[in-house]
Amino acid sequence: MTTTDAPGPRGLPVIGNSHQWARDPCAFRERCAAEYGPVVNYEMLGWDTYMLTDPADVKRVLEDPDTFPKHEPSNAQLEAFVGNGLLTSGGDLWERQREAIQPAFYMDHIRNYAERMVAQAAATADRWTAGESVDVRRAMTRCTLDILVDCLFGQEIDPAERGLYEAVEAFQAPLEPSKQPITFFAPDWAPVPFLRRADRALSHIDDQIYDIVETRRADEADRDDLVAMLIAADTAMDDEQIRDELVTFLFAGHETTALSMTYVWDLLSRNPTAQRRLHEELDALLDGRPTIEDVFDFEYTGAVIEEAMRLYPPAHDIRRSPATTVEIGGYTIPEGSLVTLPTWVLHRDERFWDDPEQFRPGRFLDGGRSDRPEYAYFPFGGGPRRCIGQQFAMTEAQLILATIASEWTLEREYGDLELSAAVTLQPSHDVAMTPHRRD
Ligand code: HEM
Repeated sequence: MTTTDAPGPRGLPVIGNSHQWARDPCAFRERCAAEYGPVVNYEMLGWDTYMLTDPADVKRVLEDPDTFPKHEPSNAQLEAFVGNGLLTSGGDLWERQREAIQPAFYMDHIRNYAERMVAQAAATADRWTAGESVDVRRAMTRCTLDILVDCLFGQEIDPAERGLYEAVEAFQAPLEPSKQPITFFAPDWAPVPFLRRADRALSHIDDQIYDIVETRRADEADRDDLVAMLIAADTAMDDEQIRDELVTFLFAGHETTALSMTYVWDLLSRNPTAQRRLHEELDALLDGRPTIEDVFDFEYTGAVIEEAMRLYPPAHDIRRSPATTVEIGGYTIPEGSLVTLPTWVLHRDERFWDDPEQFRPGRFLDGGRSDRPEYAYFPFGGGPRRCIGQQFAMTEAQLILATIASEWTLEREYGDLELSAAVTLQPSHDVAMTPHRRD
């Protein structure tokens, strides 16, 4: 087959299309897909980039990690923070680690986590006073961090006592959209205050993690959380590998869920009909606080979360890089280039979604799913590197939503939701809301 160069927007000398990307990455990618079709070539941050928006191409890339491994330069940026854990490693190491860690995410484990997820969600809302403004994003971030630590690191660990909230916030700050250009282009020695704070936070987290691992190595109790599984794994991981895995989970295992929940509260506050329908389901099913059995019965509650992740996918851009030059859709995609799979664009594509801008959880109820291609919706990625925490996150999000929404509604104190896109898709302002008790 003869291949040609993929079409795309003309860039400027040296910076390519980086300025268009930087101004509004979401709008830029939507415009590119609309103008140039399913394979678009542009240059971003010096990378020869190919954006794919045909679900069949997304499937091909995600399901063939030998031909399409992770994009090394993007990975290297994360490795500086999380080391060589599950998210960033490749090859045999990744395969061994995924096998060792997977059992912590089987359904029988998630069943055991449910009660603690509900307790942490209830504790979050117990700190609220009706009528007094809450920073919802921060509240959701703490709640999901509490859940992660409680379920996977050990119930006796108190994140506040160990200074983990502040440390995790400082350690993730360099990846905030406004700080990313400095993070990735400043030389190591540059005296940038937020980078130095992040260094100190990372060494604080390291100290805490090594302390947890040491205590647990000496602990005789029979446990089945992630730390126990890492220590007992047949692969005999050294402490540094265990550290990398645990920091990876601190990084990958709470912020994405917190963002999804933030978007859920924003969308419910704008869509009273959807909120009413959610309340009807919760009122009909719940007898007190929710349990894991309720999660199996929820329909609309789960659909609200899926629809929020359609409109605002926290992982807005999944990246790979061909190990060899390939042909996709009649175009040449060179070895070593950046292949980007934009959930943001596919989740709003009119070919697969009616009125894509509208929040309509009903799309995800029975019968609504069957007429869409598999990879028109992929908030958790796909193929062998699909999110290991997908079931954990979906259970957690439904339990947080059910626990809080059965007692509270949240009223927005801001106008439009403004977004910025870096490693994750984030609100670019505080998400202040007023909680009201339901009658
Ligand atoms: C709504 C919440 C979440 C979203 C949207 C999300 C999204 C994703 C996506 C898209 C990937 C694949 C990245 C790629 O292919 O390059 C991924 C991987 C991963 N996620 Fe999640 N995630 C969520 C929650 C979680 C949770 C709760 C955990 C752990 C408790 C977790 C841990 C991980 C890990 C360790 C990986 C790497 C897996 C591997 O490569 O084997 N995630 N996540």
